[in-house]
Amino acid sequence: MTQVIQNLQDKYLAEFVHNYNQRTNTSKQIAQKFRPYLADNKAPEFFYPPLKELAYTLVCKRSSGSKLWDVDGNEYIDTIMGYGINLFGHNPPFVKQAIDEQLDRGIQLGIQSEIVGEVAALICELTQMERVAFSNTGTEAVMSAIRLARTATNRHKIALFSGSYHGHSDGTLVKTQTVDGTLHTVPRALGVSPNIVKDVLVLEYGNSRSLDIIKDQESELAAVLVEPVQSRNPSLQPQEFLQQLRQLTKKAGIVLIFDEMITGFRIHPGGAQAWFGIEADLATYGKIVGGGMPIGVIAGKAAYMDAIDGGMWSYGDASYPQVEKTCFAGTHCKHPLAMAAARAVLKYLKSQGASLQQNLNQRTSQFTKALNAYFEADGLPIQINHFGSLFEFAASESSALSKDSDTPDIGLILLYYSLLHKGISLQGNGGFLSTAHTDEDLDRLIKAVKNSTRELRAADFFV
Ligand SMILES: Cc1ncc(COP(=O)(O)O)c(C=O)c1O
Repeated sequence: MTQVIQNLQDKYLAEFVHNYNQRTNTSKQIAQKFRPYLADNKAPEFFYPPLKELAYTLVCKRSSGSKLWDVDGNEYIDTIMGYGINLFGHNPPFVKQAIDEQLDRGIQLGIQSEIVGEVAALICELTQMERVAFSNTGTEAVMSAIRLARTATNRHKIALFSGSYHGHSDGTLVKTQTVDGTLHTVPRALGVSPNIVKDVLVLEYGNSRSLDIIKDQESELAAVLVEPVQSRNPSLQPQEFLQQLRQLTKKAGIVLIFDEMITGFRIHPGGAQAWFGIEADLATYGKIVGGGMPIGVIAGKAAYMDAIDGGMWSYGDASYPQVEKTCFAGTHCKHPLAMAAARAVLKYLKSQGASLQQNLNQRTSQFTKALNAYFEADGLPIQINHFGSLFEFAASESSALSKDSDTPDIGLILLYYSLLHKGISLQGNGGFLSTAHTDEDLDRLIKAVKNSTRELRAADFFV
C-alpha cells in the first residue's frame, strides 16, 4: 500500500471514528459500563484493531415498523429486522394485540395451551407437512430433527454443507479445514468435542461430487441437513442439486432435513420446499413464525415425527401409541406468548396468500437491481445478492477483494459503519426487507449506500 493511500485511509478513519463516537456516545458508554458484568457475544462482532473505538453495539430504545431509535435519539431504517424475525416490521399491531391479550390471560406452562393445536394445524396447512412439534429456538429444532432422523434410521452419521449455519448445538458446529494440504473435518468452535466430528460429514454445497460422496456412504447416513439457500451466500440457489439430493436420499432411506429458519414463510408461504418444488422429510422453522417471541418448529412426515409422542391413536378402540419414542423436552416449549404470537402471524400469512411474499421479493429484486447497476456503472468491486427479501453485500466475482464472509474486506466493514452513521442498520453485510419498508425507505437506503461507497472510495477503500 502506498504512503498516499495509507494517509488518505488514516485521515478518513480518524474523522469517521470521531464523528461516529460523538453521534452514538451513550451506546459506547453503556457498552463500557456493563462490560465487566455482561459476557456479550455480540459486542466484538467486528473487533478489528484499527476499528477498536467503533466496537460497540448500538443500544436501542424503541422500534416501530421499519425504524428503530437508539439511546442517543438517532433514527435508523432497520434491515436487521431481528435477524429475520420481523417480516412485517417491528411491533406489528396484530401481533402486539395477540401478545397483550395472552398476557392478560396469564402464562401457563406445564399445562396445554388453548391454541397450540390450532397453531400446529396452521403450520401443516401452510407448509404441507404432516405433524409439528414446538421448541424454543431454531438450534433446538435442528438438534431435535437430527435426533428424530437417527431414531428412525438407527444410523448415526449426518451430512451437512459448508457455508451453512444450523444453530449452535455441538452436533452441527463442524467445519472443514485444510491442514498440510489435506482436508480435515474439525470442530467449528473451541469447546466442541473432537468426537462430534466422527458423526458429521461436511460437503461442498451445490457440487455434484458431494452427491457421489453421499451415495458412497449411504448405508451410514441418518440424515442430510441442508439450508436450501444459505443466508451467508444467497446467490447460490441450486435447485437441480437439491432435486438430485432428494432423489438420492429417498432411494437410500436417508432423512432429508430442510433447515428453513430463514427461508420458511419468507420466500413463499410454504418456504423453500414450495419455492423449489421439493418435499423434505423433516423441516425446521423459527424466526418469522414466532412474531418476535422465541420459537422453534420441527415439522415433517408422521413417520419421523411420531417418535415424539408414539404416533396416532384414538379413544374407544384398541389403538395405542405404537412408535418407540425418543427424548423431546423443554420447560418453555409451547410457551403461551409464543403460541399467541404464532397464531396471529400464521392467520395473517394465510389471509394474505402468496402475494405478500411475491410483492416483497419483487421489491427486493428492484432494490438490488438499482444498486447493482450503480456499482457496475461506477466500477465498484462490490455487488448485492438476494434471495427473496434477504440481501447481502459481497465482493463482486471479478474483484480482488476477500470473498470470505468470515474475513471481509475492510471497505465492506466500513460500509456497515458508514451506513449506520447515516441511519441505516444492517446485519453484518446484509439484511432483510420487511413489508413495513416503504418506497421512501428504499430510496433513502439506496442514496445512503451510494454516498457511503463514494466516500469510502474517495478515501481509497475498495481499490
Ligand atoms: C438456518 C438457521 N438454522 C438455525 C438457526 C438457529 O436458530 P436460533 O438462533 O433460533 O437458535 C439459525 C439462526 O440464525 C439459522 O439461520
